[in-house]
Amino acid sequence: MKKLVVLISGNGTNLQSILDACASGRIHGSVAAVFSNKASAYGLVRAQEAGIPGHSLAASAFADREAFDQQLIAGIDAYAPDVVVLAGYMRILSSAFVAHYHDRLLNIHPSLLPKYPGLHTHRQALENGDVEHGTSVHFVTDELDGGPVILQAKVPVFAEDSEEIITERVQHQEHAIYPLVINWFVEGRLTMREGKAWLDGKPLPPQGYAHD
Ligand code: GRF
Repeated sequence: MKKLVVLISGNGTNLQSILDACASGRIHGSVAAVFSNKASAYGLVRAQEAGIPGHSLAASAFADREAFDQQLIAGIDAYAPDVVVLAGYMRILSSAFVAHYHDRLLNIHPSLLPKYPGLHTHRQALENGDVEHGTSVHFVTDELDGGPVILQAKVPVFAEDSEEIITERVQHQEHAIYPLVINWFVEGRLTMREGKAWLDGKPLPPQGYAHD
């Protein structure tokens, strides 16, 4: 059984979808531990309810990003994970962290990358009058939200939408696609090499699987 470690900072609805998928067998793996950079993250309660160890590290206790990430690496590696899953982890990663988990570090970002890396993606989609928005699962590299895209899900945007409605619509898709991609990875179907995501031995196009 492959082991996942999940990193969060907040509500943890994506974590919940991963926990549920592990429990139902849609992910052929199990979550070994959850780490948060916020002690108040509700995702830690979700971990506890699922009987999974949850840990939090406060940035204020460390001299710098490198020191924080070294402690995080030590904590994560104690569980010997096959894959490290970022699920709403809102802290910039050091290069050393990315290098340490190179090719087994996944993230979900709430936009159709390469559009809108960074924060406030839903607001930007609304303000720009986009008619289409969505979410992307990608491998993590040193470039913020810039690693190879594996799978995207699109949602429509309507003129009367609020940021909350778009968030809900996008998250609904996230909860469907992230467990699917994680399962591809744990089954050995998905890899990263030569700066590309590969599924079943074929390189995926820049916008990921089934790009039209
Ligand atoms: C998600 O929308 C994800 O795309 C982004 O942060 C959000 C986390 O939500 N990276 P949750 O904590 O999983 O509910």
